[in-house]
Amino acid sequence: MTIPHDDLLRYRAEFPILSKKVYLNSCSLGALSTRTRAAVNGFMDDWENWGASAWYRDWIGVLADTRREFAMLIGAGEHEIALLPSVSAALGALASGMSSTFTERPEVITTDLDFPTVHYLWQAWHREGVELTVLPGNGVTVPLEQWEASLSPRTALAMTSHVFFTSGAIQDVQVLTEMAHAQGALSVIDAYQGTGQLPTDVKALGVDVLMTGGLKWLLGGPGIVYLYVREGLIPRFEPLLTGWFANQHQFAFDPNRFEYSSDARRFESGTPPLASVFAGRAGLQILNEIGPQRIRERTSALLYDFIDRARARGWDIRGASMEPEQRAGIALMNVADPTGLTAALKERNIILDYRPGAIRYSTYFYNTVEENTMLLEALDELLR
Ligand SMILES: Cc1ncc(COP(=O)(O)O)c(C=O)c1O
Repeated sequence: MTIPHDDLLRYRAEFPILSKKVYLNSCSLGALSTRTRAAVNGFMDDWENWGASAWYRDWIGVLADTRREFAMLIGAGEHEIALLPSVSAALGALASGMSSTFTERPEVITTDLDFPTVHYLWQAWHREGVELTVLPGNGVTVPLEQWEASLSPRTALAMTSHVFFTSGAIQDVQVLTEMAHAQGALSVIDAYQGTGQLPTDVKALGVDVLMTGGLKWLLGGPGIVYLYVREGLIPRFEPLLTGWFANQHQFAFDPNRFEYSSDARRFESGTPPLASVFAGRAGLQILNEIGPQRIRERTSALLYDFIDRARARGWDIRGASMEPEQRAGIALMNVADPTGLTAALKERNIILDYRPGAIRYSTYFYNTVEENTMLLEALDELLR
């Protein structure tokens, strides 16, 4: 199989782990780049050399810059982006900003394939009257008909993943959003497994809220999450989880003058984790430099190189019926002992991970066919 965009292999030198390991686990943690390390070191240097004046000299600007880089990646405006430390925190801010909605529309719909933190948050909001409906998927995805049948005028939010973390299946969040809107509900998309590896144009998709972060495909590590809220919606939210970074008059330092920021910064709260912001921005710059379309083409080809050769060996890849355009760069392979197999691969310097019942493979623009071959040959021996 020919893998497009071999020119991207020049990036391998920027990711030191790739010379030491066969790294096929970007869906858990994107590889650390020398650029990201340098960015964090730059933050430390600022801190050491300038002390508090680094805030005005540089750091406030870096926050704005980071929002702008993310906005560029998803086709949004900078004013529609907030920086938060985790998806859980972003969801908390969002939920706490719409309490009154739940009186008329108590239902939040999600699926059993969504990331657990989503469930935990909305389960906790039961105390505030939220009724959580969990759509049962088929282990790979949730058919759109199921969404359509469940959405109703009682639904406040359709909250789900762009890409499911235990199957790699891409949901059609554009159609899903149209279905939600037809019932007067909003779509809230957890795009942690999508943005970066998939071209994401929030305006074309029409989604209301989208969140993702540095940890995985955006190459920025932990501690930084990006929250997009559609322009016209922003004034509808008044988060109870708040703080001085959400204040339109932040630098007035006046305890009696709080007004929610007119833009998405109203979802922020306290001092952001700056080291993570620096790392996050460096990751976003790499993504914007390459462009997600090229990343998608390369990642998809590498994924199918692995899947086709695994299937030819009779191995059981989850979601056999999925078309290439429905699959992001993640594949789950059902095996008897995922933990043991993952550990045995690690012994051979091959890094992937596992989820219940399966090993989880993921590939990215910096990976190669040769790395797939090394994995397949190791599996040949280990599964014999
Ligand atoms: C789909 C998805 N959502 C959310 C998260 C993480 O959520 P949080 O930022 O709250 O740790 C992950 C992975 O860690 C994920 O795969």
